[in-house]
Amino acid sequence: MTPAPHPPPPPPRLLITAGPTHEPIDAVRYLGNRSSGRLGVALADEGASRAWPTTLLLGPSPALPARPEVELVRFQTAAELEALLKAHAPRCDVLVMGAAVADFRPKAPASDQTKLKRTDAPITLELEPTPDLLANLSQSKRPGQLFVGFALEPSASMLEGARGKLERKGLDLIVANPLETMEAPDIEATILSRGAPGAPIKTRRLAAMPKPDFARELLDTIARILSSETQP
Ligand code: CTP
Repeated sequence: MTPAPHPPPPPPRLLITAGPTHEPIDAVRYLGNRSSGRLGVALADEGASRAWPTTLLLGPSPALPARPEVELVRFQTAAELEALLKAHAPRCDVLVMGAAVADFRPKAPASDQTKLKRTDAPITLELEPTPDLLANLSQSKRPGQLFVGFALEPSASMLEGARGKLERKGLDLIVANPLETMEAPDIEATILSRGAPGAPIKTRRLAAMPKPDFARELLDTIARILSSETQP
């Protein structure tokens, strides 16, 4: 008698972060960055089109997912994203950390109701570092969870910077892309992945392509890794 075939594994639960953070200076001003959030949105739509349960934590970005199946949760600041990740990350199988998280924020923003007054004298804004959300999450990563980071780097030191972040942040994959692609419709990415323990880091350079095409490539790569991990 032939043994009953194994039921297919459930689809992976995908958690994506995308977009910039806005760190308030006062009631109307903030420190932000030029991330468009478009790649994260394309990844969420791609995940949903594969019937992967997909949650998108999205910063203040005008881009929005087209697929209604995407669970969309908004944030403004690194602290809000940190709290959302605490709640959502333990339940996901794959975390794709595309958000361009501020590395520094105003130490003492004026209260919600206050707008700083014009003055003729220079003023100083004191900044404090934000926590490295991804590195901290990696400390409590479950076996079988897959963490993907991004490394936005100047072209000249891109690969070296990405390798450092892959190690330091405890990641399985990192997508390195040159600074110039931050706002562009296309991405010129190199995917770096950790092989077996002790094996050298694998580097795959992709041609420039529109962000939705890259989203497909990246989820194909993730699907391949997940299926190789579940092979008996
Ligand atoms: N990241 C994070 N928390 C931060 C800063 C970055 O989780 N406070 C994540 C990003 O979402 C990205 C990865 O870390 O997946 C790398 O972000 P990047 O801006 O390239 O690097 P940094 O760690 O900020 O280092 P640097 O700015 O010095 O290059």
